[in-house]
Amino acid sequence: MAAKKSSKAAGQAKAGGQGGDRGFPAARPRRLRRGQTLRDVVADVSVRPENLIYPMFVGAMDKPTAVASMPGVKQWPVGDAVTMIRQWREKGLKQFIFFGVTPAKKKDATGSYAASADAPVNRTLAAVRDAGLDVVMYADLCLCEYTDHGHCGALCPGDKQGVVDNDRTLELLAKVAAAQAKAGAEVVAPSGMMDGQVRAIRAGLDGAGFKRTAIMAYSVKFASGFYGPFREAGQGGMTFGDRRGYQMDYRRAREWRTELALDLAEGADMVMVKPAATYLDVIYQVRQATAVPVAAYHVSGEFAMLHAAAERGWVDLKAAALETTYAIKRAGADLILTYFAPQLVEWL
Ligand code: PBG
Repeated sequence: MAAKKSSKAAGQAKAGGQGGDRGFPAARPRRLRRGQTLRDVVADVSVRPENLIYPMFVGAMDKPTAVASMPGVKQWPVGDAVTMIRQWREKGLKQFIFFGVTPAKKKDATGSYAASADAPVNRTLAAVRDAGLDVVMYADLCLCEYTDHGHCGALCPGDKQGVVDNDRTLELLAKVAAAQAKAGAEVVAPSGMMDGQVRAIRAGLDGAGFKRTAIMAYSVKFASGFYGPFREAGQGGMTFGDRRGYQMDYRRAREWRTELALDLAEGADMVMVKPAATYLDVIYQVRQATAVPVAAYHVSGEFAMLHAAAERGWVDLKAAALETTYAIKRAGADLILTYFAPQLVEWL
């Protein structure tokens, strides 16, 4: 009998009444969910077009070429890339990062084509700059799109397993960084996870007179199963081995501290966590640990998954893309690299 009575009282207090039974008004969170405008004004997380960076694949192909595993994403000839950037800029998209699609005959053991002014990334940077478009241009700084074996640097002499020669690769990256800066990149973004790469690139840029070129370090980049579609899009898959000897192991929850500390000490102007949606805990902690801008890369596999489910009618693409992007922002990312960027500027 007594038990029944007290559970009834608790039920009333929960329902709120006028002030509950202790003299204070019971919280009713639903009051602030009443109507779209009220929900909009109490929202405390926002994603703005300025937060988005669109990854683009550029190459020397004849015409824009669709990437099967990434609906809506194309490989762009340089001229078309400039046209598209102009159109997207008019819609409010302001930041672009370029990846090169390199024909097999231009690839070699050290990815030397990356440093050529003729490489599509460098030609795109120069073309956008010369067109005077008011956008921020990032250059992905890695060799995997240019090496014939597909690894992110030069291999150790005689290597057959994909062991990248760290310090030899640093010299190569420094040269590519200078070429990208010369072509017009405001930011170079090293993604190869070589030890000491930020220091070597900073020295290379400064030595070549590019002291104002910033570095966005892919500081916390995990060896991930979610890069598959990118490797199709960038034609940068490995011919043997994998990247676990240089990218991070997702079973280590604290190693980001070491990577972050090194990159900041070496001169990183911004840092990145990658992938994004599967590493929200890491984004959150990196945000707390540093004052520099934090970027997060919603990668190709994360993008492809949403599309695959939407194609089957299992999720609504727009709803799922918005929710995912807000999650990454809410975790603490200032900047989000996302293949949804052109759609998001329409949806936000
Ligand atoms: C190359 C690079 C990769 C991505 C960005 N830069 C692939 C990789 O490390 O294998 C992945 C991006 C994506 O999946 O969207 N260093």
